[in-house]
Amino acid sequence: TVLIIDFGSQVTQLIARRVREAGVYSEIVPFNRAEDALERLTPKAIILSGGPSSVTETGTPRAPDWVWTCGLPVLGICYGEQTMVAQLGGGVEGGHTREFGRAEIEVTDACALFEGVWAKGDTDQVWMSHGDRVTRLPDGFKVTAVSHGAPFAAIADEARKFYAVQFHPEVVHTPRGAELISNFVHRIAGLAGDWTMAHFRSSEIEKIRAQVGSARVISGLSGGVDSAVASVLIHEAIGDQLTCIFVDHGLLRSGEADEVVSLFRGTYNIPLVHVDARETFLSALDGVSDPEQKRKTIGRLFIDVFEEEARKLGGADFLAQGTLYPDVIESVSFTGGPSVTIKSHHNVGGLPERMNLKLVEPLRELFKDEVRVLGRELGLPEAFIGRHPFPGPGLAIRIPGEVTSEKLDILRHADSIYLEEIRKAGLYDRIWQAFAVLLPVRTVGVMGDARTYDHVCALRAVTSTDGMTADYFDFSHDFLGRTATRIINEVNGINRVVYDITSKPPGTIEWE
Ligand code: XMP
Repeated sequence: TVLIIDFGSQVTQLIARRVREAGVYSEIVPFNRAEDALERLTPKAIILSGGPSSVTETGTPRAPDWVWTCGLPVLGICYGEQTMVAQLGGGVEGGHTREFGRAEIEVTDACALFEGVWAKGDTDQVWMSHGDRVTRLPDGFKVTAVSHGAPFAAIADEARKFYAVQFHPEVVHTPRGAELISNFVHRIAGLAGDWTMAHFRSSEIEKIRAQVGSARVISGLSGGVDSAVASVLIHEAIGDQLTCIFVDHGLLRSGEADEVVSLFRGTYNIPLVHVDARETFLSALDGVSDPEQKRKTIGRLFIDVFEEEARKLGGADFLAQGTLYPDVIESVSFTGGPSVTIKSHHNVGGLPERMNLKLVEPLRELFKDEVRVLGRELGLPEAFIGRHPFPGPGLAIRIPGEVTSEKLDILRHADSIYLEEIRKAGLYDRIWQAFAVLLPVRTVGVMGDARTYDHVCALRAVTSTDGMTADYFDFSHDFLGRTATRIINEVNGINRVVYDITSKPPGTIEWE
């Protein structure tokens, strides 16, 4: 185990991810709960994260003293470097040259951290984000790299195996950073690198069993990858103490409900309640055209239906969710003393409070692509794992204006043709998300000598790594022409097709 002591950086989880990629298990512990981590986790190496505080101010976080005396290798990153220097008797000052973003470092001395990556005299790009800087080294340390704003961009005390960098090796903007972290865990700490997603699976199963005991768990299946992977993993841990609830709100794509139900009931034999709430949702949406009101109506009804089904099952103690790391806003609270504030985004928003449920979130340390690896490990079908994300409010937010069952049928048909063409062209896996939108606009056309007056369909496809930013997908005109022709010919009610070339920002991926 590598122990990562968190000082509240926004990117601490990326350190854990890089360590995982190096095939080594790690645990993140907030600095103020790290006191007993040495006995509890018996780590073989320690990484100190960055953080928003300044060591020049009193009362700011420090690493526990045993970090310096336990004999383990330590890597300090950013704030981690500063607290290492401050705690070992060096000097840190605030407010000189602030460096944010890309910076260039020059390697001034070789060290084990740089082996096979950088030699003395090399320059390379790194990512900096700091206001304070080290001004005097503790005894035993040497400088190994400098930058314009950080004369101590990297330092080392090789005898004690203490290393520190002012830049962030865990982010992709430091192109060789992952190799530095690999050097730290392999060369310096001597860890084997044989940890895999199979280990994650078995250790999460142990954790779920310990958390849940003999209590009952319900999980809301959305049809997406995350809730499916979470549910299959939990079922593996606690068997039929888990019941999945799949609410069909009638706003799904064609075939989606059947796929999910047959996967869970058929392939996995996991208890599943399939609620047909199509009428309830559609009548509640009658006359609603404001996007926020649509979302709120759907969210509220979803909770009502889910709650009622859970009650029929005799209640539950835990709610399972497929929350991923990017959904989690986790921060260490500095102002209020030793307490840790953890805010999490609830996929089934509002439920846990209302039903007094505790959460089981086995994927909260993972990124989307890692969830897909775990899904494969659990044997989920490849077609299911590679699915594009689909929003909770479903097709309702892809029909600007009022939602009717007629419009839903038109949209489903157009959408399925579009996706069929994408799959045929072998493009599905290169696209983050692709879908059709049915516009509340009618235009005039001519079909077989007759006048038509029908809806416009907009096609959307984007590339993205996390859904936070996105670019439109660059289809060939040939592809767009072929797809538009098919939609106009085959879907009654659409006589015009347009392609959306808006990026995010300034647009969003969905239209509402
Ligand atoms: P936007 O439209 O905000 O979408 O650029 C970013 C990503 O989030 C998905 N999305 C949702 N997912 N519930 C969800 O589970 C929602 O209410 C919701 N709204 C948007 C969207 O499909 C895209 O992947």
